[in-house]
Amino acid sequence: MGRKPFIAGNWKMHKTVAEAVELAQGLRRSLAGITEMELAVCPTATALHAVSEALKGSNVGVGAQNMYWEEQGAFTGELSPLMVKDLCRYVIIGHSERRAYFGETDETVNRKIKAALAHGLSPIVCIGESLEQNRAGETVDFVGEQIRGAFADISAEDARKLTLAYEPIWAIGTGLTATPEEADRIIRTAIRDVLASLYGAATAEAIRMQYGGSVKPHNMAAFIVMPEIDGALVGGASLKVDSFTAIVRNALEALP
Ligand code: 13P
Repeated sequence: MGRKPFIAGNWKMHKTVAEAVELAQGLRRSLAGITEMELAVCPTATALHAVSEALKGSNVGVGAQNMYWEEQGAFTGELSPLMVKDLCRYVIIGHSERRAYFGETDETVNRKIKAALAHGLSPIVCIGESLEQNRAGETVDFVGEQIRGAFADISAEDARKLTLAYEPIWAIGTGLTATPEEADRIIRTAIRDVLASLYGAATAEAIRMQYGGSVKPHNMAAFIVMPEIDGALVGGASLKVDSFTAIVRNALEALP
């Protein structure tokens, strides 16, 4: 079976509860009836409950932006898998902003993935290289290592449940993007080939890959038509009904 396209919005640290609900209600209307593609939005923790209620029974899923791996305990400020599962289905793990500003490593990413899977959540795992690494020609090695770290001790059956988001750090929030051809090449050589070496080709081919980094309505189609790219993780352009809807519609039109 082919990989179902999947576009998700990462709202990052934006929107009060009321603003988040307004956006969710708008998307519920504008994206109604789309079944060819999986859709999700990831609001801040404070808005998760209200947004989940606003999107209940719709075709737009909801995800958290982060999660700790323990079920409960003295971990001030953290959300547990049980708490996330109470409210939504998806969870973003290992976003480059979390790695850069909040000390996340391949090891903590791996622990979080395992906890998410153990609780039946669908993780969206982010990987991607910095500008320096890109310029030094280290992208394939670095991203490959991130993949090996993220998937350590994860079975093939569980691996298939992950969505990976390849987000070159230098393309996030900058208006710059990798070219679709370059993103496709990195996903093939640094991600899917590494997964094939870990799990075999069939499992590697089953895992969905999103591109992330300055995805906008005008460039979505060029990414989604690439053979390795199954969708997008959208930051800034997911914060408005019009732009996120245009991204989804442009992707749908471009699909075969
Ligand atoms: P932008 O779309 O704002 O570049 O953000 C991408 C991103 O980090 C999504 O997780």
